[in-house]
Amino acid sequence: MNMDQYLRRLPKVDLHFHLAGTLQPRTLFDLARKNGVNLPNWDETKIYDFRDFYDFLEVLECIARCIVSKGDFARVSYEAMRDAARAGNLRYAELFFNPQYHYPQGISYATMVDGYIEGLEAAQKDFGVEGRLIPSINRELGAGAALDMVRDVVGQPRDRVIGLGMDCAEYKGKPHLFVEAYAMARKAGLRCTAHVCEDNQTLEQAPPSHVMDCLDLLGCDRLDHGYNMLADPAVVRRCRDCGIACTVGTHTCIASRMQKRWDSVRKMRDAGLNLTLATDDPPMFGTDIGQSYVTAHEWLGLSAAEAADLALAGVDATWLDDGEKRDLRRSFSDEIAALKAELPAQPADG
Ligand code: ADE
Ligand code: ZN
Repeated sequence: MNMDQYLRRLPKVDLHFHLAGTLQPRTLFDLARKNGVNLPNWDETKIYDFRDFYDFLEVLECIARCIVSKGDFARVSYEAMRDAARAGNLRYAELFFNPQYHYPQGISYATMVDGYIEGLEAAQKDFGVEGRLIPSINRELGAGAALDMVRDVVGQPRDRVIGLGMDCAEYKGKPHLFVEAYAMARKAGLRCTAHVCEDNQTLEQAPPSHVMDCLDLLGCDRLDHGYNMLADPAVVRRCRDCGIACTVGTHTCIASRMQKRWDSVRKMRDAGLNLTLATDDPPMFGTDIGQSYVTAHEWLGLSAAEAADLALAGVDATWLDDGEKRDLRRSFSDEIAALKAELPAQPADG
């Protein structure tokens, strides 16, 4: 077994990936044809080629319009888990979906959430990978629409729905606007996270102070991205000291921005932040959870042992309860020990 195979076979969690961002082009074209949606192009090699972050968000919304029936939702979550289990031994995931992408088509919250759950259950049976769901606020639509969505979520609880997230363009919906929506979610027992300080937005658009607002005003238990916080050492210290996990990606929507991303992730690691690797929108960004660990090895210099530690740290960053975490940790540790025994000795690991 070589290093590449070892990294792909490590058992993993992924705590930040968007269901609408997981469609392979062929599945997307299939659903678009079935549901009569016109795509920007029908070329497998171009559909995930973006001008910038805002172009990417537009394509993502267009993809969401292709997912219509309960069966479509089930297909998307099933294939997402199948692909990640095969490509990178994904064992557990917390997946985002945006109810607000689907409301304009008259799709009920129950249709989407129950469709997604059906796909997760089938994937668990077929591939042994478990998934839980995080409905995510589209911050661009404002506070009132967010409250309506959270009301829908808390009014129709499901065991697999465990948290609340928030995504889309940060400067169009700053964290402080969503205090009420987050309070409602927390009161209903949901855990909370938010996209914040993403590096495809400027420091003015996504400043480090937004991290403080996510912690102090929204009560976030975890953060998605966080790179721009590096501009303010006091914010970095706060996150390091409280140990909050940041889900960071090795890939983003524009290939030319990847080097900057890796530099930021390396600095965040060096600063002692609690990081967990995530794929965000895997086929749209040209990755999968296995490839993300390979990239972290190549570009962040992670050794075999450090990659295993990162996979294990991911378990602690999940929103599983303590008993479930213990069980998952134990099964990861056993699997990792067996894999390490197959790997030729690594100089960096002694
Ligand atoms: N929705 C899906 N991926 C996203 C990202 N990286 N940032 C903001 N919103 C998103
Ligand atoms: Zn994301």
